[in-house]
Amino acid sequence: MTAKSYLHLGSVHGVESFQRHLNEYQIAIPCDAELTAGDSSPLAQPLSLNGIKIGNRFAIHPMEGWDGTSDGKPTELTFRRWRNFGRSGAKLIWGGEAVAVLHEGRANPNQLLINEQTKGDLARLRDVLIDEHRQATGSDDGLLIGLQLTHSGRYSQPNVKGRPEPRILYHHPLLDKRLGLNADYRLITDGEIREIIEAFHKSARIAREIGFDFVDVKHCHGYLGHEFLSAHTREGEYGGSFANRTRFLTEIVEGVRSGAPGLEIGVRLSAFDTVPYRPDPERSSPGKPGPGVPEPFESLLPYRWGFGVNVQDPVKPDLTDAVRFFSLLRELGIRLVNISAGSPYYNPHVQRPTLFPPSDGYLPPEDPLIGVSRQMSAARALKKQFSDLLIVGTAYTYLQDFLPYVAHAAVREGWVDCVGLGRMVLAYPELPLHAIEGRLPDRKRLCRTFSDCTTAPRNGLPSGCYPLDAYYKKSEMAAQLNEIKNRYRNKNAEA
Ligand SMILES: Cc1cc2nc3c(=O)[nH]c(=O)nc-3n(C[C@H](O)[C@H](O)[C@H](O)COP(=O)(O)O)c2cc1C
Ligand code: SF4
Repeated sequence: MTAKSYLHLGSVHGVESFQRHLNEYQIAIPCDAELTAGDSSPLAQPLSLNGIKIGNRFAIHPMEGWDGTSDGKPTELTFRRWRNFGRSGAKLIWGGEAVAVLHEGRANPNQLLINEQTKGDLARLRDVLIDEHRQATGSDDGLLIGLQLTHSGRYSQPNVKGRPEPRILYHHPLLDKRLGLNADYRLITDGEIREIIEAFHKSARIAREIGFDFVDVKHCHGYLGHEFLSAHTREGEYGGSFANRTRFLTEIVEGVRSGAPGLEIGVRLSAFDTVPYRPDPERSSPGKPGPGVPEPFESLLPYRWGFGVNVQDPVKPDLTDAVRFFSLLRELGIRLVNISAGSPYYNPHVQRPTLFPPSDGYLPPEDPLIGVSRQMSAARALKKQFSDLLIVGTAYTYLQDFLPYVAHAAVREGWVDCVGLGRMVLAYPELPLHAIEGRLPDRKRLCRTFSDCTTAPRNGLPSGCYPLDAYYKKSEMAAQLNEIKNRYRNKNAEA
């Protein structure tokens, strides 16, 4: 199977053809045939929940650019990205991007940091976003802006590009191997966890001081918050029972409530997962990865290293964990939830459905529309059970030309409260505004999931939409990225 085997959405003309395709293959994705324009569009409807007001139904997901300074401040590229987020017209800015609460928890040496030295620059990031939003839409009424706070845990790489410095909570039989960690590799101690929790408290106080409406205590994509949820085998206060595995969150929330009163708290969650994937060794050759297949897990059953997986068959998602976690969020008074899935490090097809994988990835093991449907269906099921929580859905970018029609239907039918956009906004920041106006998207600007925004940072370059954003396309960085991609291609040819 190759990427060529799946329907290329760019070649589908007309929403009716797309609807027929969904019906024929029984893919559960709602899709309206027409867009309502302007104030009566479902996408234009304001939301109000216990005092939280959001002016429309588009959210921008956090997206970092690997482009901060070594001391964690934004650069012109970072400002440019945040301006684009503001220009999108989306009224919910979910986090901006992952910002590390401690240097050693940075995912790369260019990740933003939050502390007394960076707070002025982070405040300016928020300001430029608001200015741009006002210019694009005429008003910042109903604009809700959060900051995503993170510690990268197992995926920490704070000092040197390409030199991981994992901070792990437990030994994972499959992920440890990938990182080359021995059985005696040191675990984070309970004392260190308390210091990290303190750092979250301090960061939230700063975020409130500089005007953010909420902080997202990141629990997704394999980073530290997410790893806690699957720390079944960890001993001590932060592992084992559900109460222990969620103690990190509850202790962060306690300290934020007392130290930063009035600041809302949100959580971005990988609501389900699967085992790590790799290119099928049978169908790969050097430099030419095959389709993704799960790492062998048969000797590891029942599987005790996942959150949101069926323990007897861990390639299958199971929302039981997420339901329990959502009940806890409700108890903690957390009302803002952004649903994601899996991890870009070990099962990217689940997290970020893509037709053309990054150069170090694997070919899609399924039609990426199935991946979209999986995330949308999970969000729908959770929204049904937790109607009092404000739920943001993920994985819409792959829908390309049909994104506005699916977003329209998803909100109209109550699958989610807000439609979150990631890659599409790197390629085409104005898409949300155009969708609300009922305009057909500009086809030349649509993200076609070429993955350069992932390939670039994997190779030490800043992220961005190299194929479609003129700023990157014409840059020196684009020449470097081309060289890197050529090297991969030549490897292919030699193989
Ligand atoms: C370049 C890039 C950077 C990202 N950075 C973050 C991040 O900082 N925090 C986060 O939670 N997710 C991050 N993500 C994941 C996106 O927020 C989103 O979940 C993912 O791209 C799927 O949504 P999409 O299909 O609309 O792109 C990033 C994705 C990309 C492509
Ligand atoms: S590089 Fe551009 S087109 Fe490719 S996936 Fe990223 S945003 Fe989409």
